[in-house]
Amino acid sequence: MMPIHCPRFSCYITSLVLGANGRTGIEIVKQGLDRNYRVTAFVRDDKVLLEDSSLRKNQNLLIVRGSPTCQADVDRCVEGQDAVINVIGARLMSNDTTISSHSQVVLNNAMKKHGVKRLIVVTSYGCLGLRNYLISTKKLFSRMFMTGILKDKVLQEDIIQRDTTFLDWTIVRPITLKDGELSERYWVSSDELPSTSKVKVLTRRDLAHYLLSIINSPGEHHAIRSIAGKPRSEIVKQQSNMTEKKREVMWTTEPARQQQQQQQKEQGELERKQILLQAQQPPHMKVVA
Ligand SMILES: NC(=O)c1ccc[n+]([C@@H]2O[C@H](COP(=O)([O-])OP(=O)(O)OC[C@H]3O[C@@H](n4cnc5c(N)ncnc54)[C@H](OP(=O)(O)O)[C@@H]3O)[C@@H](O)[C@H]2O)c1
Repeated sequence: MMPIHCPRFSCYITSLVLGANGRTGIEIVKQGLDRNYRVTAFVRDDKVLLEDSSLRKNQNLLIVRGSPTCQADVDRCVEGQDAVINVIGARLMSNDTTISSHSQVVLNNAMKKHGVKRLIVVTSYGCLGLRNYLISTKKLFSRMFMTGILKDKVLQEDIIQRDTTFLDWTIVRPITLKDGELSERYWVSSDELPSTSKVKVLTRRDLAHYLLSIINSPGEHHAIRSIAGKPRSEIVKQQSNMTEKKREVMWTTEPARQQQQQQQKEQGELERKQILLQAQQPPHMKVVA
């Protein structure tokens, strides 16, 4: 494959992936290399990447070990990059519920210092409305761990948006992720996703595909995107099922649905404000001007 020339940047795309040994991270690395990007994989443990012989031998991949909360470690990787994709997220059982916000402060500092502007960060659809998202999570066990992780993601989103003047950011909020095939079929919305009957769990391969597809899209700067999988039958169903009667029912229930959506939105906004108010500003929140 020929190298992809990126008109916005001076040469070929070089990108830094934080959380590169995670399940989505490794997909971004692989698909980025398939697109002939030069990829720097930032990890705290390089075992998973080095075990893959095709990655180990790839000349376009640089694997760097470091801590995402260590300013010096992140600084040396950010310098010279065209874009940064951050997919770090606390492991469910880790109790490590400040890693997203903490690493984001360090990353923002590094990007400002080195004049790197393009940033794509994966948070969670739960940031749109914590309460509803947690209710929809069936396993009580997961719910217990997710509350702290989600609150930290809300804080992370706030940290990113505080640096709007410096960074060309995109925040991507996926619903539940799973391993699986690349289908290149997903819903992307600037607001809520369609009802649960129309969406499905998103594969990490599809998420990686979407993240890479917006690296060089100025239209996606300063935007928040929700994303979910799209069932194969969805388009066909939409066309064939729209009988007159259904249209009528849709029309009559639409105002109620809109009102409910509006209420949920306001509730989500209130929750976010409360989380940000309650969040103590720990030492890692010191931001370099
Ligand atoms: N899983 C879901 O259903 C879901 C739903 C919505 C959003 N998300 C978000 O989507 C992203 C990708 O999810 P995923 O399930 O593919 O992720 P994952 O496989 O759990 O990988 C998480 C990554 O974060 C790194 N990480 C975690 N804690 C760290 C720490 N304290 N210091 C340094 N690195 C740390 C991990 O490194 P190590 O390998 O070294 O631990 C790994 O690279 C995450 O941001 C996640 O929060 C996930």
